[in-house]
Amino acid sequence: MHDFEVISNEKIADGIFSLVISAPRLASALKPGQFVNIRVPGDPSELLRVPLSYVAADPERGTVEIWYAVVGKGTQRMSEWGRGFTSDLLGPGGHGWRVPEGARRVLVVGGGIGVPPVLCLARELAEAGIAVDACVGSATVAKLVGVEDFEALGAGEVRVATDDGTAGLHGFCTESAAELLSSHEYDYVATCGPGVMMSKVAASAAEAGVYCEASLERMMSCGFGACSTCNVETTDGMQGACMCGPVFDATKVVVW
Ligand SMILES: Cc1cc2nc3c(=O)[nH]c(=O)nc-3n(C[C@H](O)[C@H](O)[C@H](O)COP(=O)(O)OP(=O)(O)OC[C@H]3O[C@@H](n4cnc5c(N)ncnc54)[C@H](O)[C@@H]3O)c2cc1C
Ligand code: FES
Repeated sequence: MHDFEVISNEKIADGIFSLVISAPRLASALKPGQFVNIRVPGDPSELLRVPLSYVAADPERGTVEIWYAVVGKGTQRMSEWGRGFTSDLLGPGGHGWRVPEGARRVLVVGGGIGVPPVLCLARELAEAGIAVDACVGSATVAKLVGVEDFEALGAGEVRVATDDGTAGLHGFCTESAAELLSSHEYDYVATCGPGVMMSKVAASAAEAGVYCEASLERMMSCGFGACSTCNVETTDGMQGACMCGPVFDATKVVVW
């Protein structure tokens, strides 16, 4: 459990906010792909915390940055938090991406609000000198996040796709990913986004013979293995996303 204080909370795209919190112990402990489970006070009828990935952690400043979409009551209340607001969270939750040792070129594919955990990974890999290509997709340009951040890494190609053609390819980022996988040699693929998107990326990776991991989203009640609400059907049986995930070997996922 970590207490935190809000440093900033700004809109970065249509319905999407960047929250920066001060939580020094957490900032040193998080690994890309892990999540935090945030208490959002204000409505006694809502007991559940809100599970969110993180996009960046700065151990020196003691800060953690989270990008969240406003979809319901909890995230709506979060969007009203100002500088100095305090609450607490549980974390780090689950385990992160397991990039194979010695990987030299990696493809990350993020759709919609699935971008944060793959951007976080890309940043770490780029710092380690590993080439990273990125495919980023969203419904429309107003909801697109992360493109400039990927470009700023200078670690590889950045392909953009929007469903309505308002930026980049008029189509899905799965198409860009399939194209890159058929024309480049990768050691690893990481994907996060809608289930149908991740299943297509996983199929393209399998076709190219590249190990792929996917970060799955499930309803989470406890966030620490006590309730089974977050079960994912895998070839090894039911596994809780909060402890066995949220990152899974894509070949083992039965129900996306
Ligand atoms: C491991 C993990 C990481 C996540 N990372 C991010 C992230 O980085 N950014 C982000 O914007 N969102 C992320 N989510 C989704 C986020 O947790 C939900 O959008 C949030 O809990 C909705 O809360 P709410 O109170 O606003 O909505 P509610 O009023 O509770 O529900 C609104 C809608 O969201 C759905 N929902 C509620 N809780 C979840 C949940 N845990 N997972 C999926 N759908 C849910 C409901 O079924 C409903 O359709 C993540 C979820 C998980 C499990
Ligand atoms: S959320 Fe309770 S077991 Fe995963």
